[in-house]
Amino acid sequence: MSAEAVSVKFQGLAALSDVNLTVLRGEVVGLIGPNGAGKTTLVNCLTGFQRPTTGRVIVAREDTAGWAPPRFRKAGVARTFQAGRLFRDMTVAENVEVTGVGLGLDRKTAHAQAMVMLDWLGIADKADRTAGTLAYTDERRVGIARALVIPPAFVLMDEPAAGMSDAEGEELISLVTSIPGKFGCGVLIIEHNMRVIMNVSTRLYVLDGGRILAGGTPAEVQANPAVISAYLGADI
Ligand SMILES: Nc1ncnc2c1ncn2[C@@H]1O[C@H](COP(=O)(O)OP(=O)(O)OP(=O)(O)O)[C@@H](O)[C@H]1O
Ligand SMILES: [Mg+2]
Repeated sequence: MSAEAVSVKFQGLAALSDVNLTVLRGEVVGLIGPNGAGKTTLVNCLTGFQRPTTGRVIVAREDTAGWAPPRFRKAGVARTFQAGRLFRDMTVAENVEVTGVGLGLDRKTAHAQAMVMLDWLGIADKADRTAGTLAYTDERRVGIARALVIPPAFVLMDEPAAGMSDAEGEELISLVTSIPGKFGCGVLIIEHNMRVIMNVSTRLYVLDGGRILAGGTPAEVQANPAVISAYLGADI
């Protein structure tokens, strides 16, 4: 899937300017950039939550103009959110099941599949808890279970490890890196920690002020003079 010359303007503010980005199945693509760089806006454009002001988003060679988020999901593009977005009065398992049912599974299969995912994420013991009682970091794990309950072609993850301890974050990131092999999909991951993103990404993009500052393999990006002068050594 790809963004082609995508720009987004909010009133006068250029949140994204002429952004080109591609994610292929089987790779983990990193997306980094400082607060307000436009990372979430880009993921929103790639999943139907934000319409580009100009430019196109292509999924499976189709122009997605006018597609709402459910159409993106049905076409195989799943996402997670920076914050939970769970049904707070439902159980953890039900929160994952409803996504499965929405995508056509019967209730029993959806429950079984939800439990497989929760187990993989290490939170099967919390399946019967009310989602509203979860810690922020577990909410995000449930979001990942939802995104993968029926394996998508692409999963876009908005800072899945934010707020986690180093050990917890590393564990989660190692699960993320196993997603292409286990589910056969491509991953786009937003992550602030430079060391982490350099380790997990096949390729990465650096977004700055709504523009792609650099893109390439971790080695290429680390050697890019624009990146060196702006960020070297910093977590962005
Ligand atoms: N719905 C909106 N209406 C107006 N401005 C918005 C909207 N959403 C985002 N913005 C602005 O667009 C810019 C990009 O925001 P975005 O949330 O995409 O950044 P980000 O890179 O995800 O930041 P962070 O690292 O803090 O999550 C910011 O200046 C933000 O204030
Ligand atoms: Mg964001």
